[in-house]
Amino acid sequence: MSAPSCGDIRTDTAPGAAFYRSDAAWTLARERVFVPSWQWLGHLGEVAATQTLAPRTLLPGSLDEPLLLARDAQGTLRCLSNVCTHRANLLVAAPCSAPHIRCGYHGRRFGLDGTVQASPGFTAQDGFPAPTDHLPQPAFGTWAGQGFASLSPATPLADWLAPVEQRCGALPGLQALRPAPARDADHVVQAHWAVVVENYLDGLHIPFIHPGLNTAIDMGHYRYELFPGACLQLALAREGEVAFAPPTDGPDAGLRVAAYYWWLFPNLMLNIYPWGISVNVVLPESPERTTVQFRSLVWDEALLGQGAGGDLQRVQDEDAAVMQAVQLGLRARLWRPGRYAAQHESGIHHFHRLLKAALGEI
Ligand code: FES
Ligand SMILES: [Fe+2]
Repeated sequence: MSAPSCGDIRTDTAPGAAFYRSDAAWTLARERVFVPSWQWLGHLGEVAATQTLAPRTLLPGSLDEPLLLARDAQGTLRCLSNVCTHRANLLVAAPCSAPHIRCGYHGRRFGLDGTVQASPGFTAQDGFPAPTDHLPQPAFGTWAGQGFASLSPATPLADWLAPVEQRCGALPGLQALRPAPARDADHVVQAHWAVVVENYLDGLHIPFIHPGLNTAIDMGHYRYELFPGACLQLALAREGEVAFAPPTDGPDAGLRVAAYYWWLFPNLMLNIYPWGISVNVVLPESPERTTVQFRSLVWDEALLGQGAGGDLQRVQDEDAAVMQAVQLGLRARLWRPGRYAAQHESGIHHFHRLLKAALGEI
């Protein structure tokens, strides 16, 4: 694989085609980028009550790690492995209410804190239970009613989310988000996951690909801000379009913000609009196939369909077409990695630097 230097946006070149096409590079990224990452587990409304359980899969299509959200009788919420410690049967298939977790294969029973309570065929004389008989717990935390887990976190959750919390944590409504499952969709894109992330971090294409979105936001004042593990694209509203009124003592005081487009390394996008948050989770499936989950968390239904966060389906379709074209272009024998547009592609350059830090040469 080629080895671009990643220090100066004016002279650096982007990763070579091999990074996007090689199975080995894709697998290495799965292990070195995604295993240490934080992953969004969705809104926690399903486990709001005591003694409730809800299964989750961490990174379906690549890591496929079965997890289980469990709130015990005292109200403590945990994230457990959803795999029985006996012979690896999956424990809970659907959200439910229960005082304990019972494995359907040989009847092992766990408390909602993950400790094994009983197991037919095992006795104390066998040294049972040992610590390894309890359900493992990945790193887990919450923010704005949503859950996040990591198998081997490279950074504390609070540090990873700090830029979003500092900039948007005081927005009224953030504590009153409601899922809107009728709006949920999963889109398959015939492209590498990094192509999807790069397209997201690229505001330069908006006037060319998204004529509708281009009428809602003021591209003359579009800006990018970089954080250690994140990028914010701040879009201001054109005159007459719906906008936030940001807090008067914050960095956006006086601005008519149409959208805060947050990307958190490696694969989470939190698009914060005046109506709520459109969450995008990028799920790698192969070097040429990626699924993007779109989930809506709403705080003001009356503003749905307006402004930058209005016709999201159209924007998604426009993006999918160009990403698939790029994936085909990456096969071309005559193509060489392009340079960065310094004023518009700092987010993409930042992404590539983070990839390089995780993977070494790309
Ligand atoms: S696999 Fe769960 S009790 Fe045997
Ligand atoms: Fe786009």
